[in-house]
Amino acid sequence: MDNLTRLLGGPRLWIKRDDCTGLSSGGNKTRKLEFLMAEALAQKADVVITQGATQSNHARQTVAAAAKLGMRCHILLEDRTGNTQFNYTENGNVLLDRLHGATVERRAGGSDMQAEMESVAKQLERAGHRPYVIPGGGSNPVGALGYVNAALELVSQSVEMGLRVDHLVHATGSAGTQAGLVVGLRAMHSAIQLLGIGVRAPREKQESMIYDLACRTWGHMGLAGELRRASVQANCDYVGGGYGVPTPGMVEAVTLLAQTEGLLLDPVYSGKGMAGLIDLVRKGHFAKDQNVVFLHTGGSVALFGYPDAFGLTTS
Ligand SMILES: Cc1ncc(COP(=O)(O)O)c(C=O)c1O
Repeated sequence: MDNLTRLLGGPRLWIKRDDCTGLSSGGNKTRKLEFLMAEALAQKADVVITQGATQSNHARQTVAAAAKLGMRCHILLEDRTGNTQFNYTENGNVLLDRLHGATVERRAGGSDMQAEMESVAKQLERAGHRPYVIPGGGSNPVGALGYVNAALELVSQSVEMGLRVDHLVHATGSAGTQAGLVVGLRAMHSAIQLLGIGVRAPREKQESMIYDLACRTWGHMGLAGELRRASVQANCDYVGGGYGVPTPGMVEAVTLLAQTEGLLLDPVYSGKGMAGLIDLVRKGHFAKDQNVVFLHTGGSVALFGYPDAFGLTTS
């Protein structure tokens, strides 16, 4: 991203395009779903159940994966923001969930979504189905394997390109992406410094969620040795008013990437992730001769759920 690099006058900035991973309009969930849906098939499931916030990218990609594999999909959408605008509740990801053929149910904010999914699973079992429940964000040791793979891919790409990657930065939410990256980079003794920019929980809670899942993924792979707690770093200073609530930094980041690199971020995750990266560059967090890779985790569909946030709508 040489235009953005020049504009910020800091380290050389790169972007890894996990927004181009296929399955509906792409995103980080494709990598996780490769492993989760394999397990669903192995268990001979005929319907998958998952959950997320109203504008969940995970739900959209799960419905697309189910469609591709000839399975039904039941999604529970939690109202985490209280936003009742039509575009937020019906457009963007929600429109695509329906287009991909999902059964969509809504739940109030604060609901125990795991319990809600399990009760739907019981109903479907009574109706003769074989449901497979996928946790929010696809974040369990099976899903995290998708990002162990991504770490292997990034390191081999950097070797092929002869590029020394110093830092890898991305948005972190349900923790599966960062947990998988921590395990993959550690397993290869990579020196790449990984930083997750939080979009919801405070730092302590976010880091302990990631470390817990990384340790379970490490165990799931049967790897020897231990994971150091210090290998998990998150910065949660860019959450702003809360999950899914726009911030000035996010609006600037989304607009800058659109107008300097022709790229679309999202307002909930990658937009806040990039806002964190830009602010850290401006604060001199990275040395000028370093290479910093931003992992674009997708989500731009959600822009259509937030038309007013960018002050571009006329009516
Ligand atoms: C576009 C996007 N980026 C980042 C994330 C965060 O990834 P994770 O949930 O694995 O922490 C999500 C999660 O839903 C997402 O949809």
